Amino acid sequence: MRPNAVIIGLGQLGRSLAEGLVLAGWTVTGVRRDQTASELARPDLVVVATGEDDLGPALETLPPDWRSHRVVLLQNELLPDQWRRHGIIDPTILVVWFSRKPGELVRELRPSVVAGPHASAIRSALSALDLHAVEVTPSEVISALVEKNVYIWSMNLAALLVPDPTTSRVLGEFRDVYDALCRETVHIHEAALGHPIGDVAALCDGVAAILANEGERRLGGRSAKRRAERLAALARTLGVDAPTVARAAESA
Ligand SMILES: NC(=O)c1ccc[n+]([C@@H]2O[C@H](COP(=O)([O-])OP(=O)(O)OC[C@H]3O[C@@H](n4cnc5c(N)ncnc54)[C@H](OP(=O)(O)O)[C@@H]3O)[C@@H](O)[C@H]2O)c1
Repeated sequence: MRPNAVIIGLGQLGRSLAEGLVLAGWTVTGVRRDQTASELARPDLVVVATGEDDLGPALETLPPDWRSHRVVLLQNELLPDQWRRHGIIDPTILVVWFSRKPGELVRELRPSVVAGPHASAIRSALSALDLHAVEVTPSEVISALVEKNVYIWSMNLAALLVPDPTTSRVLGEFRDVYDALCRETVHIHEAALGHPIGDVAALCDGVAAILANEGERRLGGRSAKRRAERLAALARTLGVDAPTVARAAESA
């Protein structure tokens, strides 16, 4: 029998994973917002492909016996507390380094990173779409999550603070804004994870190099403001002083 997967959230990434898993030989059932996953038989894996704000409510709807070893998470801004507080045990974590936007071709920035019990199935699904992923251990994936979070938050928040925010302006004329955002984002992650992250300057330089490699483009987008609000709220909850993040969250 073919293995079966449920995909909760049929947006950009949910559709990609659905297509990749079908091509890799899985039977896939999609769940829209107006449908209930718990009416289905327990799948071999369940990809929760909602946006960040919908993740907690979606995880809450999962039946208890779906929560161990079979959940796949792929959100930006992901940190372990977000799955632990919903009783998700040993999830497969996909740190996505490709971009799929409505009306655009899929753009792969670098190989994605995947860890957990279904890492090789997810890698095969991406491979069926000509996308690449490297498998790492569950402890290594935390560093990969931090790197992606720092990238996504620094880039989006810089776009709220820098006039005419292009890559070259954020990494050139306004590099101090980028550096402050990056440092504060790392400190928030250190507080969330409960341990130091190591060489912060090297991490920020590495993320800046990833951005620079993408070439010149306009930064930001419709989700930037909400990302800033979520990071500022996380800093407040953790008691981390993050004035540049707060300024981005308060910007128009
Ligand atoms: N797209 C990318 O290139 C990309 C790259 C890296 C990471 N990510 C991350 O991946 C996550 C998903 O991104 P996306 O671009 O795929 O977002 P998206 O296109 O907005 O898709 C999210 C989908 O989840 C659905 N949804 C929300 N709550 C649901 C629920 N309880 N049950 C069923 N469906 C539900 C939404 O339905 P409605 O339409 O009803 O709202 C929407 O169709 C985000 O965290 C994003 O930051 C995306």
